[in-house]
Amino acid sequence: MEIKKVGVIGAGLMGAGIAQVAAQSGLDVTLMDIEQRFVDKGIAGIEKNLKRMTEKGKMEPSEAEAVRGRIKTTLGLWDAAAGADVIVEAVIENMSLKKTMYADLDKKAALHTIFATNTSGLSITELASATTRPDKFIGMHFFNPVPVMKLVEIIRGFATSDETVAVIKNLTEKMGKTGIEVTEAPGFVVNRILVPMINEAIFVLEEGLATANEIDEGMKLGANHPIGPLALADLVGLDTMLNVQQHLYEEFADPKYRPAPLLRKMVRSGNLGRKTGKGFYDYS
Ligand code: CAA
Ligand code: NAD
Repeated sequence: MEIKKVGVIGAGLMGAGIAQVAAQSGLDVTLMDIEQRFVDKGIAGIEKNLKRMTEKGKMEPSEAEAVRGRIKTTLGLWDAAAGADVIVEAVIENMSLKKTMYADLDKKAALHTIFATNTSGLSITELASATTRPDKFIGMHFFNPVPVMKLVEIIRGFATSDETVAVIKNLTEKMGKTGIEVTEAPGFVVNRILVPMINEAIFVLEEGLATANEIDEGMKLGANHPIGPLALADLVGLDTMLNVQQHLYEEFADPKYRPAPLLRKMVRSGNLGRKTGKGFYDYS
């Protein structure tokens, strides 16, 4: 199946990045969110990235204009689904919200449309159960920031067909990314390793062993990470971090995955990292 048109549901950090990269690979994109201000924020981020690329000479201004022109926006699921060969979903990491959205989308999308979820680690099989097309349902897990990060985890649910996997592998390549195929399990591969590491850094901070700066310097200089774990938590969003860690804790029923109390406290306080202007660091 040749993919020509992609719907992206959720215009937040990930949805906007996915829409940008899809449009850069020549696909027509419809980007959808529930309120105009969220759509506007996503588009502003895409326009900023395109401007930066033209200023750095990495993209011709005419190409940036063409990329922007391939992205339409909407507040309606009907519009997002219309004509889409693949719909990539990047709404907040909440099982019941995602399932409600999928049940609705299932009625609006064409029969051939593949649903690809960008969940950070929720069960693909359970999400697919909200639809009548579990064979055309798959995990397509991009990494943040999407325009920069090369990996996509491709995750099969219980009923995902070989054809769906093949189409999504091709789409991944078309978008300039490298795919790895992963068997479904909580957190998949990368977040199973990465998120508990970040959670441990939050425990270290909470125990007063070092300051946030020192912890991050330690992991940058001592383990060659591009940014420290606390700065990375701020980049990902502390709500997403907590959702992933809590999911590992509940699914494995293993105390080793217990979320750091400080992480819970920060999420409850509304300090979610870069997206709210404050997390472990102040971005105001
Ligand atoms: N969008 C687009 N491009 C961006 C960007 C963004 N949000 N942020 C940075 N960039 C680009 C810059 O334009 C720059 O491009 P050039 O090299 O072409 O000039 C390049 O990235 C480097 O940026 P900076 O010099 O400003 O900053 P940096 O060197 O610190 O790099 C970073 C920024 C790429 C984010 C780097 O810090 C990094 O790789 N961090 C780790 C990211 C990571 O681990 N992501 C995974 C998170 S976990 C996840 O995503 C899964 C999940 O489910 C939670
Ligand atoms: P975000 O909070 O930045 O964006 C989520 C967007 O979804 C918001 O704009 C919100 O308005 C919108 N939304 C909520 N309900 C909706 C609905 N019913 N229909 C349409 N839009 C709706 O979150 P994010 O960081 O972009 O994460 C999105 C998904 O991607 C989550 O599943 C997350 O786990 C996953 N993910 C996040 C990261 C990361 O680093 N942040 C990395 C990989 C995967």
